[in-house]
Amino acid sequence: MTNETLVHRPLIVGNWKMNKTATEAVAFIRDFRNRIPASPHADVVIAPPFTALPSACNALGPSSWISLSAQNVHWEPYGAFTGEISAPMLRELGCRYVIVGHSERRGLFGERDETIHKKVRAALKHGLSPILCVGESLEEREASRTESVVTTQLGNSLAGLTTQDLATVTIAYEPVWAIGTGRAATTEQAVTVHRSIRLFIETGWDSPTASAMRILYGGSVTPQNIEPFLASDAIDGALVGGACLDPDSFATIVRIAQTQRA
Ligand code: PGA
Repeated sequence: MTNETLVHRPLIVGNWKMNKTATEAVAFIRDFRNRIPASPHADVVIAPPFTALPSACNALGPSSWISLSAQNVHWEPYGAFTGEISAPMLRELGCRYVIVGHSERRGLFGERDETIHKKVRAALKHGLSPILCVGESLEEREASRTESVVTTQLGNSLAGLTTQDLATVTIAYEPVWAIGTGRAATTEQAVTVHRSIRLFIETGWDSPTASAMRILYGGSVTPQNIEPFLASDAIDGALVGGACLDPDSFATIVRIAQTQRA
């Protein structure tokens, strides 16, 4: 049985999506940092658009407690791939993380597990920690297919990875019906899926790897609803969209994460 009593330092990731210019990113970082101090009790990552990464990196400074993530990556290191950005390019801009397989990439841009798998591998090869998003649609949930959809996505995207690789992978469970809808999953719904994700990792790899992995919940997380999610030891943090764009609301979410497991 997976050791769910292993309580992780929570990880809060702010996914800015296609929001904020480079100038706005700098203003956000200044404002956010004035509202909240660093704490050893939570890890914080922001994922601005590609164009804001250099100025965000600059504004954060070299030893910031806030890490940078990209929102997407191409699987090749360079080449004739018009409009794409590679892992080495992101590393050079100061990114430590990259979000891979977000449901908007899957749904709006036709990303499939096969390419997501290549992206995860490319990220790992070039020293970026992938934040792999998985999640079912409403139709799939209503057909009781949540677990099979999520474990298929995981199996396809993580195929061939070693336990060492998995040590730097974060999973984000984001039910498609909860993203940007204001209708978050219940804690119980999230915990059920998180447990099956951990069990899937334990079965496919081993128990220490499954216990050590951070599994985030994402989908309409707000300052008002984050607390019960983090109260469960099955949920290791959150991937936040809409509520991360305002410095005050993101700072409140981070403060709750910093204090809840302190
Ligand atoms: P949301 O987005 O918080 O606006 O629902 C979450 C996400 O897409 O990562």
